[in-house]
Amino acid sequence: MKQLMTARQLKLAVLASGRGSNFDAIGQAIERKDLNARIVVLISDQSQAPALAKAAGRGIETLPISPRDYSGRDAYEECLVRELEARQVDLVVLAGYMRLVGKVFLQAYEHRVLNIHPALLPSFPGLHAQQQALDYGVKISGCTVHLVDEGMDSGPIILQKAVAVLDSDDEEALSQRILKEEHQIYWQALQLIAEGRVWIDGRRVVIKDN
Ligand code: GAR
Repeated sequence: MKQLMTARQLKLAVLASGRGSNFDAIGQAIERKDLNARIVVLISDQSQAPALAKAAGRGIETLPISPRDYSGRDAYEECLVRELEARQVDLVVLAGYMRLVGKVFLQAYEHRVLNIHPALLPSFPGLHAQQQALDYGVKISGCTVHLVDEGMDSGPIILQKAVAVLDSDDEEALSQRILKEEHQIYWQALQLIAEGRVWIDGRRVVIKDN
């Protein structure tokens, strides 16, 4: 069994493609001192992402990097890794980053990239997870914080939170209730890592008491 990281104040980079509400929730947890971390940069693959403005509003460095400016995924990720290494980032937090992470990135940051997904994985990976849950007819869905591997939403699971699906739900209503829980479990998972309590044993993540 391997400790993910020794206890420390985490230096985080957040990668976001869109709205940035998970980024904001993490920022708020840091301000409340519930999370012992610093966000050193917000990187977006979308130059117009609202997350960039949210980060600027918090006085956090913003870095739009468009994959279209690179010859391919490897070249794009080499650039990402250079920027992350330059800032000596401990963990990379994907918060609505709508891209698969490739080899170059994962080799440099093995077990150091986290993602949040709006379903109880391994159910409903990929896009429109909440609509997938409604279409399938499950009675319970939720959200998952996990380590990123090369698959789609498939890495070892750190925390999950269940959310009941109501008969009256549509995609929007269910998404809103799941999002509320996302905004809690993401910083909580990060804080467990900051406390040095997260260990990995193959696919299983074990949370140890201090
Ligand atoms: C969140 O619901 C997140 O779980 C989801 O995108 C949304 C981003 O919202 N991510 C995925 O579906 C990843 N597979 P935000 O930009 O407001 O944080």
